[in-house]
Amino acid sequence: MEIIRGLIVVLHLIAFAALLGSWIVGALSRSGRITRLMQWSMLLALMTGLALAAPWGVVASPNYFKIGTKLVILLIIAALLGIGASRQRRGKTADGVFWLVGPLVVINAAIAVLV
Ligand code: HEM
Repeated sequence: MEIIRGLIVVLHLIAFAALLGSWIVGALSRSGRITRLMQWSMLLALMTGLALAAPWGVVASPNYFKIGTKLVILLIIAALLGIGASRQRRGKTADGVFWLVGPLVVINAAIAVLV
């Protein structure tokens, strides 16, 4: 059980890396574009995060305040990605929402590690 949970943690970290990495690429190139990779990695972070939040009996008492806060922030990120992608489909720029995504991902990582 511990090994399976450990593998899900690895997938969770890969999702985090892909989401932040793809955002950094967009930020450095000043494209300000929401990409498919950002959307898929956000979805993977959500699914693996929810799986980790389940009672596995491995962690003594899961910190549900922390998990809930991370879930709310991830849902905000999901909404921003959705708004940005739909703006792009209509030929508009997603610049406004794009710049909020990276800092929110970093805040979630900080909450995961520090709280
Ligand atoms: C962009 C969104 C997210 C980022 C950047 C992120 C980042 C991280 C990181 C870096 C860790 C490892 C922390 C450590 O081992 O010290 C972690 C663990 C964890 N995350 Fe997330 N996370 C995100 C979304 C979520 C969501 C939405 C949930 C649940 C609803 C969640 C639930 C968890 C849980 C339960 C763990 C603990 C794993 C363990 O026990 O080692 N995460 N997250």
